[in-house]
Amino acid sequence: MTARSFRRGLLLPALAGLCIVTAARADSPASSAEQNYVLRCQGCHGADGVGVAHKIPSLRDSVGKLIRRDDGRDFLLRVPGASNSALSDAALAGVLNWLVERFAGEEAGKGTPDFTAAEVMAARRRPLVGVHRARLEIATRLAAAGLSTPVDY
Ligand code: HEC
Repeated sequence: MTARSFRRGLLLPALAGLCIVTAARADSPASSAEQNYVLRCQGCHGADGVGVAHKIPSLRDSVGKLIRRDDGRDFLLRVPGASNSALSDAALAGVLNWLVERFAGEEAGKGTPDFTAAEVMAARRRPLVGVHRARLEIATRLAAAGLSTPVDY
């Protein structure tokens, strides 16, 4: 064995090990939902979830209301920024639960069941086409139930 092939023999497993550790970190239960929000969502939605006027909806104004209806819950699971993210099903379920805890307000999320990895997996098989139309229809039904959400983002 030459010195070079010996070094390569050490380097490759070391690199592979590094990749495995990095991948495991990004997805392990220990990496918190908040960290995943910071990495995958915050760039658009902002640290405090207020979004960008007329471009990105404020999670503070919507999550607490959407979570209270089945169609709103389904929308939360299937909105492209969430469902198309690189997060695993379990990690995305964790982020969605964190969103409810963080942005739904004291009362709004109470009593609603947690999102599960199985639910995320099933939702990801049904991509949402016509996001804005779907959101508008849900907003109309929410408003009829006395839960108005901004639609002009
Ligand atoms: C590249 C920018 C971007 C990223 C990254 C992003 N989003 Fe979004 N998000 C949007 C936009 C834009 C909308 C409005 C709907 C649409 O056009 O898809 C939205 C809508 C939403 C909504 C619905 C809010 C409402 O009032 O209708 C939720 C919930 C949401 N995103 C969660 C997430 C989560 C969770 C992540 C991270 C895993 C994420 N988003 C990452 C841009 C983004």
